[in-house]
Parts: sequence; structure tokens; C-alpha cells
Amino acid sequence: MDAFKYRGKTLFCEDVRIGDIISQAGTPAYIYSKNAILTRYHELKTAFQDVDAMICFSVKSNSNLSICKILAEEGSGFDVVSGGELFRAIKAGGDPSKIVFAGVGKMDREIKYALENDISMFNVESVAELEHINILAGEVNKVPRVALRINPDIDAKTHAKTTTGKKENKFGIDLSEAEKIIKQSARYPNVDLCGLHVHLGSPIYTVDPYVRALKKILALIQNCRNESLDIEYMNIGGGYCISYTGEKVIRPKDYASKILPLVKEMQCNLIMEPGRFIIGNSGILISQVIYTKETVHGKKFVICDAAMNDLIRPALYDAFHRIWPVNTSIKMPAVENPNKSMVKKGMELVDIVGPVCESSDTFATDRALPKVKEGDLLAIFSAGAYGFTMSSSYNSRPRPCEVLVDGDQFRIIRKRETYEDLVRGEDV
Ligand code: LLP
Repeated sequence: MDAFKYRGKTLFCEDVRIGDIISQAGTPAYIYSKNAILTRYHELKTAFQDVDAMICFSVKSNSNLSICKILAEEGSGFDVVSGGELFRAIKAGGDPSKIVFAGVGKMDREIKYALENDISMFNVESVAELEHINILAGEVNKVPRVALRINPDIDAKTHAKTTTGKKENKFGIDLSEAEKIIKQSARYPNVDLCGLHVHLGSPIYTVDPYVRALKKILALIQNCRNESLDIEYMNIGGGYCISYTGEKVIRPKDYASKILPLVKEMQCNLIMEPGRFIIGNSGILISQVIYTKETVHGKKFVICDAAMNDLIRPALYDAFHRIWPVNTSIKMPAVENPNKSMVKKGMELVDIVGPVCESSDTFATDRALPKVKEGDLLAIFSAGAYGFTMSSSYNSRPRPCEVLVDGDQFRIIRKRETYEDLVRGEDV
């Protein structure tokens, strides 16, 4: 969370006072730090520089054009999962030859769109999809690269709703089936079946699941090479963790120290699809307190103007996000224990909730927070990834604006939606 620091009693993003941004942008507002994005991108790039990994930023984590443009200008590629994400990646200046396309349900029109743009590679998740790509590529006389997404049946110990590499998950192809497909690749003359892909889940706090998956895949690659079938690309997906509580977590170099030897043994070009690692702690959501309310049972609520429609992670995954007033004389603890609230002098135990008509519209339950009043600003940390991209206009709430900070400058990179935006395209 290094880009967002308190100086004295007030929160800054880089060299800009959050209060100054909000005076212009209003609330709720997502605020991102350009410097944090670049620092994280380069940390990952450096950790894997031995093999010159191709980094494909996962657009689903944050698809704002200005954010994608920052990464495109650094030479990043993109991992997309829909025609819409491909459109965004290209519009942001992404080089199509560095775009990989994943997802279990690519539609013909999306496949055609990707073929038209000569993307780097399709990450294919079923035989049916492979057949479609083969036919559609033949129609336009192209031979796109294809990587088979492997489902290695490995538990990455993430939230049940974000685990993707277990055999009961819809993702990928079983190892034995993948081997069969590769050995029968002559059936698909219009594709160049030259890669393997794996994405185990997100976020993954140890390197062990990657190692176990890559060991299984290494055996598959060797079996293929024994029959003169080469695999040139290994895409290890995303899932690199970030700290949500302030605790130390493993860094790219820790992942690299265990992953690189295996990739070298595979003699493959390495592709990675980080999302959260780059943008998660490079963004925050700022909200204003509308009311405070205490029930006759003594329960205290802080009702703020951001809600589950703006940031759904707590409602959907019980995700923990640190929340602290933007202006306060009480220091935010360096590390917070999500299971234990520490109420100190000047603080109280509260539920922090939004205005949406659902009890799940709760950002935090029994959270120790410095006392706040109407009009105070709250910062919800680690909101850069899967924040705005998962937002909706549920309850007909216009979606928040997004702001990018660069040094002592800031600019609005997505306008707050208006009531007119809410009904655009509808008929009366
Ligand atoms: N590659 C593939 C194929 C993916 O499905 C994903 C994320 C990524 C890369 C990027 O993963 P990352 O590096 O960001 O962990 N909405 C959930 C996370 C869902 C992740 C979906 N796939 C959340 O808010 O935690």
C-alpha cells in the first residue's frame, strides 16, 4: 500500500492529498497510483528476467483504458477473456501480438474478432472450442497459435469461488486428455498447437501449487517431445498474491526462485498473466460517511456512500479490505488481524455498510475504526483489482469515477456515471 501513505493526519496518493482529489472528483471515487502500477510491473518483469517472460496484464482485474495504456507503453501484453476486453486492450494501445485470449466460452464472433486482429495466442479450454477455432481460422486462411489450458487438479487454497485448477472446476482440460489432443494435432490443420496454459486460482499465497502444477505439466511436455511434438510456450497464468492486511506476503522473486528452474527445464517461452499483483494495491476506493446509526441493541453502523455495487468483493467472497478515515490523528496499524478487532482510545467497533437494500452490502463487520461522523471520508484499501471491473449499477446507482495520480498531478480517467447514463439505450 506504499503509494497511499498518511502524512501527518491526512492520506496522500503519491504527492497528492486525497482530500484535494475528492473536492474535485466527489465520492465514491477509485484512485490509482501510476507509480505503484509501474513499480509492480517492473518488480515482476525483473524477477522473471532470466527467461524474459512475456507479461500479459489480466484486463479483467482493471480494464480502464488509461490503466491499460500505462502498461501497454511499458511493453506489457494483455490477457483478455472476451471480445470486449480485446477491444479495450487494442484501444489502449496494446500490441495484438502480445495478447492472449482465455475463457471457457469464446463465441464464434469473438474468435473471428481475435483472428482479424492477429492476437498472439488462444488459450483453449475444450475440444469443442478447438474445433471452432480450427474451422474459423481455416475460413480466413490463418493459422493462429493455440495453448491448451490444463486443469491439473491442484487445490491452490484460495476462496472456493476463485479456485480454478481443481478437477470439479469448469476450467481447462485434464492432463491425459490434453496429451491425446496434442498427439492428434494433425486433426486441426488450421491451428498451431504450440503452448500450454494453466491458471490455478487467485490469490495464491504460496508458490507450492505452481510448482506442483508445473511438475505435472513438465511430464506432459516430455511425453510430447518423445514423440517429436514440441511445446514452445508455457503460460503460468496469474494469481500472484498481494497483502490485504498489511502482513508480509511472498514477492515475485520468491515465486521466481521456484518457478524458473522448472520453466528452464521445460525449455519453453514463459508467459504470465498477472492482474491483482499489479493493480490491487495500486488503487483505493474513497467513500463519504452519510450517517452513523446506533441501534437500541448497541450495534453501531457507519453508513457510507459506496456500496456493494461499487466494490463487491466483501459481499461476494467475504473479502477483507482495510478501511481507515482519510483524515485522522489515530495511526492506522501496520498490520491488521482480520479476525480480531482492536479498539483503542478514540475508536469504536462498527459495521461499515453501504446504502444498497441488501444485508450483504457490508464492507466490514465489527471493525475497530477511529470515530467518524457525517461527511468524513473513508479509504477502502487494496481496491484496485476487481473493484471497478466488477461494479454494477444495482439499485440504479451510477458507478463511481476513477482517478489517476501521477506524482503531484491527478486526472479523472473515467467520469462518474449520471442518471442519463443509467437509462442510455432503454426505450420508454
Ligand atoms: N489468468 C486467468 C486465466 C484468470 O482467470 C485470471 C483471473 C488471471 C489470469 C488473473 O489473476 P490475478 O493475477 O489477478 O490473480 N474476482 C476475484 C478474482 C477472480 C480472478 C479470476 N481470474 C477477486 O476479486 O478476488
